[in-house]
Amino acid sequence: MDAIATLRGKYLEQIGAAPDADALESVRLAALGKKGEISLKMRELGQMSAEERQTAGPALNALKSEVDAALKARKSALEDAALDARLKSEWLDVTLPGRPRPMGTIHPISQVMDELTAIFADMGFAVAEGPQIESDWYNFDALNIAPEHPSRQEMDTFYMHRAAGDERPPHVLRTHTSPVQIRAMQNQGAPIRIIAPGRVYRMDMDQTHTPMFHQVEGLAIDRDISMAQLKWTLEEFCRAFFEVDEVELRFRASHFPFTEPSAEVDIRCSWEGGQLKIGEGKDWLEILGSGMVHPKVLQAGGIDPNEWQGFAFGMGIDRIAMLKYGIPDLRAFFESDLRWLRHYGFASLDQPSLAAGLSRV
Ligand code: PHE
Repeated sequence: MDAIATLRGKYLEQIGAAPDADALESVRLAALGKKGEISLKMRELGQMSAEERQTAGPALNALKSEVDAALKARKSALEDAALDARLKSEWLDVTLPGRPRPMGTIHPISQVMDELTAIFADMGFAVAEGPQIESDWYNFDALNIAPEHPSRQEMDTFYMHRAAGDERPPHVLRTHTSPVQIRAMQNQGAPIRIIAPGRVYRMDMDQTHTPMFHQVEGLAIDRDISMAQLKWTLEEFCRAFFEVDEVELRFRASHFPFTEPSAEVDIRCSWEGGQLKIGEGKDWLEILGSGMVHPKVLQAGGIDPNEWQGFAFGMGIDRIAMLKYGIPDLRAFFESDLRWLRHYGFASLDQPSLAAGLSRV
């Protein structure tokens, strides 16, 4: 029975010392595996005399159970220790303050475009788009601006390059969003109710002009559209956009080749102590050009001017953004100064909608 005591001592010690699951498995195989020491000993029972078997049998069985139990106990102790170690290493203090992440902001121009789109959508205007590189036909001819017309020069057009020998008129960077009127007419025919916000380009650069700026074109065509509806639409827009109960717009007779009659529109405002207020005061600020679409323009867009008429307007987005959010310098819009963008930018979740209010709170 010494042999059994030796085996017992040896395996219990190895089990106790096994550092991990793999080592423990090796001990199990060495003791109780098919060719394990204890297993082999049990096989020897067959060759013993009945008498010997009577004492050796129970002793070996007891040894087997004891080693087995020790293996299980060690296994679960190792698992517990592994879990403890993992819990310790993966411990997380959820009360720590979060790491600050630099977040981008929505540019005021983008914000204002979203705002005005929401307001005009509410009045039934869909958004239309056109290319920023236009043919001179869309930018000028179709809008009744003849080749020798001074406004081609007045608009300080950027012309695209043509290969030497290519006599076609060069494309232009569109000088206004009005060419989208023609594209909308061609694409969908009458009736039409669209706005077309986007970038436009003129060779001009000073405190109140940048070579690229933004306009929103408006176009409504139907059988009996009138100047009165233009006025109502613009007043309604200004009330919603500037979030004031009353606005006063002043229509000044003007001239555009693509509208007849034409009017430039000013909004009543006051500058007091450097603070701009919309809707009151004795100053006027020009915000847009407008008029009744010229019959020749309808024709160029493939619409019969004897059946249809409409109004159009072109508003400066940068200008109304400056007015609404008190931004004093136009050029800052396009300088990408991060400090400016953080100050004047909008949170990305601050989506304008008529129901939620249009501006930040
Ligand atoms: N396209 C004109 C401009 O850029 C504005 C305008 C648009 C005027 C539509 C009348 C009608 O100045």
